[in-house]
Amino acid sequence: MSEQEPAPTDGLNEVEATDREHVFGTWSFQSEVRPTEVTHAEGVRFTDADGEEFVDFSSQLMCSNLGHSAEKVEDAIAEQVADAAYVSPGYTTEARAKLGEKLAAVTPGDLSKTFFSTSGTEAVEAAIKIARFYTGKQKILSRYRSYHGATYGSISVTGDPRRLASEPGIPGTIKAPDPYAYGSTLDPMESVEYIDEMLELEGDTVAAILVEPIVGSNGILVPPEEYLPRLKEIAHDHGALLVVDEVMSGFGRTGEWFGADVFGVEPDIMTMAKGLTGAYQPLGATIVTDEIAAHFDDKMLCHGHTYSGHPAAVAAGLAAVETYEEQNLIERASEVGEYLGDRIDDLADRHPSVGEARGVGLFRGIELTSDPDERVPFGERADKVSKGTTVVDEVAAAAYDRGTYVANMINTLIVAPPLTITEDEIDEAIDALDAALDVSDDAMDR
Ligand SMILES: Cc1ncc(COP(=O)(O)O)c(C=O)c1O
Repeated sequence: MSEQEPAPTDGLNEVEATDREHVFGTWSFQSEVRPTEVTHAEGVRFTDADGEEFVDFSSQLMCSNLGHSAEKVEDAIAEQVADAAYVSPGYTTEARAKLGEKLAAVTPGDLSKTFFSTSGTEAVEAAIKIARFYTGKQKILSRYRSYHGATYGSISVTGDPRRLASEPGIPGTIKAPDPYAYGSTLDPMESVEYIDEMLELEGDTVAAILVEPIVGSNGILVPPEEYLPRLKEIAHDHGALLVVDEVMSGFGRTGEWFGADVFGVEPDIMTMAKGLTGAYQPLGATIVTDEIAAHFDDKMLCHGHTYSGHPAAVAAGLAAVETYEEQNLIERASEVGEYLGDRIDDLADRHPSVGEARGVGLFRGIELTSDPDERVPFGERADKVSKGTTVVDEVAAAAYDRGTYVANMINTLIVAPPLTITEDEIDEAIDALDAALDVSDDAMDR
């Protein structure tokens, strides 16, 4: 190390300290950022620079659905980069055409034509613009407990507190209550009828209702069976489109291809990213029905990016979707997801600080409480944008100390492992969570 380079500080190694000095941490008070250098990832595990190994019980940011050793995807990227690393979106590649065709096949209903971008955020931006262009209306209705992305359009339709710093955001966004039986005063089916009334009161000026079919980072909120079908009916009754944001819930996470499939709903527009490539490349996708696609035959689709349909990214996407199919990973997620659900229910029975365990497939939430009768949360919405740690963070840290990485947000631990996880690996991570939940049990008396 030369004299000019920053000395390792605060327990960080040289890479971590340099990174902290020169790279912004996302959604963070920068003084609290403590990056961990990861040197290797394989199967459902990753290894840090000290050689410590962790079970990835949240697929990083609920995106590494294929785990960290998807050879077909790795090879497809390398081959594509060797053949033609980049061509502009006016050209095409075999993988781009085939992935478009494949997405039309695996998504529900008449969804048939895709716009490619590079993130979930951009997929949502495209959905907002397409819904507005197609309907000629401007307003987008979304819900309070939601996350749809970081740029101005997508953060404006986001309901969670990360939105607040960017307000007022784009005009024409309205927020509705959520199907959150455990933590809201409204019953989920009352909340959907409230949306009906909202659209009525807006005088049918809403272009689209945009929802995560199963809410992800805001707590794994699974609506009742009849919720999403009713929401589609309400949207159409009021001349609005139903846009489902499958960025987190897509690609087998729920034990079905998409969250909408859990409820048998065919949306008008669907957004995807994360599991689309299993996070091997940044790729977002916005797919629309034949009817919406046809609208743009003679009306300009006024949208695009340099990296729309980036060859390496779509090559990864095609190989990833083929891997889901060839390895039957969607069915597998459903089966192993049952096992995961049983193991989590068992934790919930034994730990008084677990308020509710919920979810489907390999998409599970464990909501914590200091008082189960009153359902008092340990973490509040405001904590998401405040300094310091909550008891929920402490539980996640205790699991990490025992070799299991689990994400958490506000008041819920988010368990979303790679679809390739085995029952033995689940047991290993559940043992770590079991010990970690003693932290929240103990905190009930604080
Ligand atoms: C439902 C949903 N939509 C959109 C996004 C934004 O995706 P990205 O972070 O790839 O921009 C996320 C990210 O977590 C998400 O969960």
